Amino acid sequence: MQDLASEKLTTEPSAKASPTKKPTASTFDFMVVSNRLPVDRCSSDGNDDGGDGWRRSPGGLVTALAPMMTKSDGAWVGWHGAPDETVRPFSHEGMDLVPVQLSSHEVELYYEGFSNATIWPLYHDVIAPPEFHRTWWDSYRQVNKKFADAVIRHAADRATVWVQDYQLQLVPRMLREARPDLKIGFFNHIPFPPPEIFAQLPWRREIIDGLLGADLLGFQRPSDAGNFMRSARRFLGASVKQQQVHVKGPDGEVTHIARAQAFPISIDVDQIRELAARPDIIERAKQIRKDLGDPKTILLGVDRLDYTKGIGHRLKAFEELLREGSIKVEDATLIQVASPSRERVEQYRLLREEIEGTVGHINGTYDTIQNTAVRYLHHSYPVEEMVALYLAADVMLVTALRDGMNLVAKEYVTARSEDDGALVLSEFAGAADQLKQALLINPHDIDGLKSAILRAVNLPPKEARRRMKLMRKQILDHDVDHWSAEFLAALEEKVVRDDS
Ligand code: G6P
Repeated sequence: MQDLASEKLTTEPSAKASPTKKPTASTFDFMVVSNRLPVDRCSSDGNDDGGDGWRRSPGGLVTALAPMMTKSDGAWVGWHGAPDETVRPFSHEGMDLVPVQLSSHEVELYYEGFSNATIWPLYHDVIAPPEFHRTWWDSYRQVNKKFADAVIRHAADRATVWVQDYQLQLVPRMLREARPDLKIGFFNHIPFPPPEIFAQLPWRREIIDGLLGADLLGFQRPSDAGNFMRSARRFLGASVKQQQVHVKGPDGEVTHIARAQAFPISIDVDQIRELAARPDIIERAKQIRKDLGDPKTILLGVDRLDYTKGIGHRLKAFEELLREGSIKVEDATLIQVASPSRERVEQYRLLREEIEGTVGHINGTYDTIQNTAVRYLHHSYPVEEMVALYLAADVMLVTALRDGMNLVAKEYVTARSEDDGALVLSEFAGAADQLKQALLINPHDIDGLKSAILRAVNLPPKEARRRMKLMRKQILDHDVDHWSAEFLAALEEKVVRDDS
């Protein structure tokens, strides 16, 4: 393996020397590719950033894959988050990172446009109308090529490459064409729509063909894998046997088999459990309750401010309960954390206006000098504060209209080490497949949602314990390491062609 030490290892603009840096190798046996690198910029004078101006991003995916990055010859390819900025390959906390540069024009067309205003709404039940623009598609193709080229340059012979998510659906095919020696996995973190909806996409054949470059395609739910296979059959005429798609080349011969299966993602269970047991975090949870005026019930919603999350439906149900007097502002507060997201995309701007208008209306109507109905927080918080919120909350509300998985639901359950608390969970979130003892709801059914909220607020402790215990067992037995290990083991499996 060649040494890249000759390459200047800077992380511009904060090009401070870092104790965590090691020379970056030029080729790697294991590569992960995602739109974003698993690090965020932070001020280089912070103490927790390893001293190089970057901090590891929160979230299970990074936690699950970081050990493989550091142990094996691994590297992560992704965008570093700043348009028009060149960052050279570098290493952070033992992880080799290969940044992909994006111009502001590419960010606008590929990321805000095709990824988040075409694919995102299309794959989430067209809750918002997807926009189809040929310029966005051209940019999506070009940027996917950039990511693929970075892998092609840095992947060792017969390396394993794991491509992540909807922003990079063309990468598997590009890799296979250029590097047939690679083992290629793809995981879709969001839902895959039924063919009747996917049909709207003018480039539906190209997307399916792009994905079919992979040896193994992972989805959150069996229904997502099923939807994908039905689209492969319908739009490419692919022959699908069980979970295998027999992919044909231009001459009609089968070139390889792409498998499609469900691998429901999970969270870093140990991290959440450890935080939930920390005395300062338990103390912080008590303080949160006190600061809210010690209400009988704290309800909690935690979401990116996204139209798929059903925040409006949740607020509507809560407002009606206040209006009818089934819930009193003196007794209950709803904390709604809405972390800022994709703020330059029109639909997200409109959503923010709508949600903030609704919160203002509810609070204006029901607040007293002492009590607030909805404590709305348009911020992101560190995981420590999130766990304190989970500990403080008697009822967690997850009312997504469509969600690939929803890891917040899994984090809440994991944090409840006393087996108390209640989870109201949308059946349209992937997590509903694993958390069957939650109070499952259809968020469009406002009366049903109201009854479930009331039921959660008044859940007898014995029943709450029974439900929470079973849900915690499920999550504790299936953490994110389990998820990545299962996927990678399946990727390495020898495939026996199913011609039945
Ligand atoms: C979802 C997607 C991820 C994405 C994240 C945050 O979870 O599946 O791929 O990174 O949202 O969105 P953003 O656009 O800020 O990366």
